[in-house]
Amino acid sequence: MKTSNNTILITGGTSGIGWALATALKSLNNTVILLGRNKAKLATAQNDGFETIACDLSDPSQIEAASVLLQNQYPNLNVLFNNAGIQQNYLFAECVVPMERMMEEVTINLTGQMALTQLLLPQLMQQERAFIVNTTSGLGAFPKSDGIVYSASKAGMRSFNLGLRYALKNTPIKVMEFIPPVTATAMTQQRNEDKMSPDNLVAYILPQLGKEKKVVTVPKMRLFLKVAKYFPGLAHKILSK
Ligand SMILES: NC(=O)c1ccc[n+]([C@@H]2O[C@H](COP(=O)([O-])OP(=O)(O)OC[C@H]3O[C@@H](n4cnc5c(N)ncnc54)[C@H](OP(=O)(O)O)[C@@H]3O)[C@@H](O)[C@H]2O)c1
Repeated sequence: MKTSNNTILITGGTSGIGWALATALKSLNNTVILLGRNKAKLATAQNDGFETIACDLSDPSQIEAASVLLQNQYPNLNVLFNNAGIQQNYLFAECVVPMERMMEEVTINLTGQMALTQLLLPQLMQQERAFIVNTTSGLGAFPKSDGIVYSASKAGMRSFNLGLRYALKNTPIKVMEFIPPVTATAMTQQRNEDKMSPDNLVAYILPQLGKEKKVVTVPKMRLFLKVAKYFPGLAHKILSK
């Protein structure tokens, strides 16, 4: 995909990896629309010259309203990054978690973005070329013990990504998966391990987006995907460290 002159929607674009991506893509002369729910973050983004849409991805009516607004105000939308996400860490077998909490994680990480994608398909289909980039996780390839609901939501996103790629095979829409390594954002601030900076990650993956790689990621993650597939015991050990 060309990395300039697009109209790009980034869900979860107001912080972390999404923000770094948005900043880099704006500097490359793209129109960048950020979708998030936190009004203060959206206002800051607006002051920085971004287009913004307030939308809580756990609310179907807000998703529908966002899709109508996009059709009316941004008819040239040709790139969708499904990047929003939350991660809750708890030992599933050792506590009682209300179903609402599990639903929130799965809805934001998976169902809400599947719904948004479906509503935007007709608009994307009208473009000469269009792209959907789904942010998943290494934990979607192998689950982490203290985050198995998050892992399940990301495994779902990986399956959605693959299914969508085949479903859209004969259309102008290309589908790519983006798998970040552990990255220094609000999501990982409690974790004491080596983290990549969001800016370095984005600088690394932009050329891969340009080459339309099916899976956009760093070498360490490509290795982890192989370990998860062929050596599950080792993958479990790595994630339990
Ligand atoms: N950081 C990592 O190490 C890592 C590794 C693998 C995968 N990922 C994935 O990368 C993506 C970005 O994560 P990050 O680390 O950059 O996280 P982050 O800094 O916490 O940002 C999460 C973003 O998601 C948005 N969001 C959360 N709930 C939302 C909702 N209900 N409706 C709309 N937007 C919502 C947030 O907006 P508001 O503030 O407005 O809620 C925020 O912009 C996620 O999908 C995550 O699972 C991250």
